[in-house]
Amino acid sequence: MGVRALFVMLVSALFMLFNGQNALVSCALSSELQEQINAINEDGPYMGLVIPNYFELAPLLNNSGYISSHSCIDFSGRRFHFGVIGQKSVILVLSGLGMINAAITTQLLLIHFSIEGVVHYGIAGNANDEHHIGDVAISHYWGHLGLWSWQRYGLGPQDKLPFEENGDYTRKYGYLRFANYTNVSGSAENSSYDNFLNNVYYQPEEVFPIDGNNTEQGKHVLWVQVNDTYYNIASRLKNMKLDKCINSKTCLSHTPHLIFVSNGASASIYVDNAAYRSFIRDTFKVTQVDMESASVALICYQQRVPFIVIRALSNLAGSESSEDSHEAETFASLIINNLVKVVVEFVKLLPASSSLSSSKTKISPM
Ligand SMILES: *[C@@H]1O[C@H](CO)[C@@H](O)[C@H](O)[C@H]1NC(C)=O
Ligand SMILES: *[C@@H]1O[C@H](CO)[C@@H](O)[C@H](O)[C@H]1NC(C)=O
Ligand SMILES: *[C@@H]1O[C@H](CO)[C@@H](O)[C@H](O)[C@H]1NC(C)=O
Ligand SMILES: *[C@@H]1O[C@H](CO)[C@@H](O)[C@H](O)[C@H]1NC(C)=O
Ligand SMILES: *[C@@H]1O[C@H](CO)[C@@H](O)[C@H](O)[C@H]1NC(C)=O
Ligand SMILES: *[C@@H]1O[C@H](CO)[C@@H](O)[C@H](O)[C@H]1NC(C)=O
Repeated sequence: MGVRALFVMLVSALFMLFNGQNALVSCALSSELQEQINAINEDGPYMGLVIPNYFELAPLLNNSGYISSHSCIDFSGRRFHFGVIGQKSVILVLSGLGMINAAITTQLLLIHFSIEGVVHYGIAGNANDEHHIGDVAISHYWGHLGLWSWQRYGLGPQDKLPFEENGDYTRKYGYLRFANYTNVSGSAENSSYDNFLNNVYYQPEEVFPIDGNNTEQGKHVLWVQVNDTYYNIASRLKNMKLDKCINSKTCLSHTPHLIFVSNGASASIYVDNAAYRSFIRDTFKVTQVDMESASVALICYQQRVPFIVIRALSNLAGSESSEDSHEAETFASLIINNLVKVVVEFVKLLPASSSLSSSKTKISPM
């Protein structure tokens, strides 16, 4: 008994030692880097711009509204660019594709730098056929639609989900019934036995806000609201003129606009499926569909940092019309340039930073 306990202690001590060393080697910032960051933060607070892909970052680096300070810092596999837009000091960082990359990058940005707010921008798929390719869209809410409780074959909407009684999973947000999308005549209306894939229930994220009462007890949130002050400031741009044509002959079929919509949704899922697109449109009132925004939203929500998401619409997700995807391809750089123009004008409208907001949102490094 005693020998066994001793053995367990020894093994856990070794394990901790190993992990501790690992952490020192791979995660901690060098003191030199920390000093660089401290010096950068002296000039803060900054607006943080989180950008999924290089093709969305490059046009901003090139935009005349962005004055680069010609310095950047690399760490944890990310490059942080410093500069100014209007009266605002900004940090630009490329996150990479998907929810994990977006979360890691946003968290790194918020814990190491003095950030007063976050702007996330990029291209998104469109689930809303009232709007068109090239429209630049701002949603009120963002949700992660990739957290699922996938129901056992044979159970139905009247059955509790696993762990539902503990408050972990819920049926309240809606579900995807695969059987509704089978194309075998006569089978669609029959019960819970018509498709082995059965039902998927959408789950809110478990979050741990920095000012929560108990950091080991999360709370649940599906829809995260963008900051209302930023939303109102952005709405002043609603009549902004966006380019429609690449040259005298080649123009988008609709004049693009800055539009304000209800919901956008993200998941680490590339949606190229019309049935799924109309399902999330009908069930969740989604316009933009992408793979990062809700992740940035969820991190900002937990760190209590104001954020906004600005996403330009590409073609209807899963559209079978080759004209649509051709249009999206032809106008890709026009669409991104319009988007970057909106982002730059938005940042220019933000009031000068006060030292008050600096001390409020400054988060000390890990
Ligand atoms: C940036 O601008 C330079 C010079 O005008 C140009 O050569 C380059 O292609 C531009 N890059 C992008 C990604 O727009
Ligand atoms: C499935 O389709 C039926 C019939 O159209 C509809 O009433 C029901 O709401 C759909 N269920 C889901 C979960 O989408
Ligand atoms: C169902 O499948 C058949 C061929 O198997 C096809 O002709 C039909 O268009 C499909 N129905 C729909 C609504 O797509
Ligand atoms: C579904 O199929 C079963 C077995 O074929 C049948 O007994 C039942 O009545 C059907 N239910 C509905 C709602 O059509
Ligand atoms: C902390 O707990 C109190 C009392 O239960 C509650 O009113 C408050 O909203 C909680 N705060 C957070 C941030 O969850
Ligand atoms: C939105 O951002 C502004 C400006 O930073 C801030 O003053 C305000 O408290 C934020 N609103 C919410 C609801 O967090």
